[in-house]
Amino acid sequence: MTAPYEVEETGDPSIIEPHEFLGEQFRVDPFPLYKRLRDYEPIYQDRFQNRWIISRYEDIWGIYKNNAQFTRAIYDPKGHFKFGSDTPLGQSLNELGEGQDYIWLRGIVAGEFVGKPLLARIPLVERVANQIIEEFLAQAAEDRRAGRTLHGEVELVKQFSARFPIRVIAGLLGLPEEDNDYFEWVYGELFAAQGYGRAHFRRGIKARDELFAYLDPLLDDRVTNPRDDLLSRFCHATKDGRTMSRDQMKGYVALMLAGGGDTTHKAIDAMWWNLLNNREQFEAVRDNPDLMDRVFTEMLRFDGSNHWQRRRTKMEVDLRDKVLPMGATVWLFLGAGNHDERVFRDPETFNIFRDDLYFGKELRTGYWKDGVASHLGFGQETHFCLGYALARQEAVISSKMLMAALKNPRLKNVPNEGIVFPPPGRGGVRGVQHLDIEFDL
Ligand code: HEM
Repeated sequence: MTAPYEVEETGDPSIIEPHEFLGEQFRVDPFPLYKRLRDYEPIYQDRFQNRWIISRYEDIWGIYKNNAQFTRAIYDPKGHFKFGSDTPLGQSLNELGEGQDYIWLRGIVAGEFVGKPLLARIPLVERVANQIIEEFLAQAAEDRRAGRTLHGEVELVKQFSARFPIRVIAGLLGLPEEDNDYFEWVYGELFAAQGYGRAHFRRGIKARDELFAYLDPLLDDRVTNPRDDLLSRFCHATKDGRTMSRDQMKGYVALMLAGGGDTTHKAIDAMWWNLLNNREQFEAVRDNPDLMDRVFTEMLRFDGSNHWQRRRTKMEVDLRDKVLPMGATVWLFLGAGNHDERVFRDPETFNIFRDDLYFGKELRTGYWKDGVASHLGFGQETHFCLGYALARQEAVISSKMLMAALKNPRLKNVPNEGIVFPPPGRGGVRGVQHLDIEFDL
């Protein structure tokens, strides 16, 4: 078979070709290319995908702070494009820029995701984790009894993490538990539609429309019978004398299922992948489970779920030696910024004891606190992840529970390419595809 097009290999690391972002090498291990970007072309124009790639920590941070020249809205929220019409998440926060409409829509329920309201959800998180752990332990015991396995075995992705965060989100929203399998399916479809594969996109739009129809009777019910759940909050919350429209409520549900499911699921897998591949650190955490918070933080720096976020220039912008035109698409390569050796020593090493990373609870403006930098895994500033505290709570609590439940866990000796991007064209965040663990029973 011949290659579809010929590429001249120069052997000169300073020459970066756009096709390198589409290759298998990048899908599995993007870090060598990230380093070349930072070193030789920190503001890189990818003419093939029509975007500018920003890879140094300092520059990413600068753009996050610069709402005057950059926006997250791909379309002007006040322009001709009908808000939310052609996106798998509908009228979600993601579509808005940084103006009053955005501030209002984020602010109306933001309080639910931090502080006391979040602490009140811990029993839900524990209950869901416990239920799924018991299911896979029972299965492992049954497999062992029947002679199908020699030890306890669990495939953590399929049997735990793909199911756990989505069930927590569904529980928070107040969606019926008996439909949990449907939510697992729907979030996969919504997320796949974020890629550029046309077939995935169509399937995502179809899943969105079905989900939105499914939500109508539930929202109708919560208008008259409010409960202690987020659907009820969406129906009754007011800010500046206004309540949310039905489309905005549905957009929030879609954003939470898609944005809060896949990301946290892959985060838990990545924590375990890194722990099991770094035995000394694993033992330190086993002996002191409170270190699990550090595992979560370092995982987000080392190889977290989200490696990029998009922005658009509102005007012509000077950046280092480049001029970005107005309306240019800009990709902030968070994964590259997190490995910037100008900020983190020995960035390619996973180390929960490093002293150059801020390990406290997330600060959306936490750069250079006492000379120690924040990771970029949740973004920064205005659009800082709304679910950051929920994600940490879920990942840390469930990982501590897994640590207690799995006796002497170790990686099963089967081929595993580790933490990778999904195939090009399909949406979904970076993560391990399967994680086979053996343990003593
Ligand atoms: C480890 C898990 C997670 C990761 C790595 C992650 C990552 C991110 C990142 C990088 C952004 C910034 C977007 C930007 O710069 O434009 C973001 C925003 C967002 N995330 Fe997360 N996220 C996670 C979990 C969650 C959860 C559990 C929720 C559920 C509530 C959530 C909801 C959101 C929302 C609504 C936004 C948009 C915020 C805004 O624009 O104001 N995320 N997330």
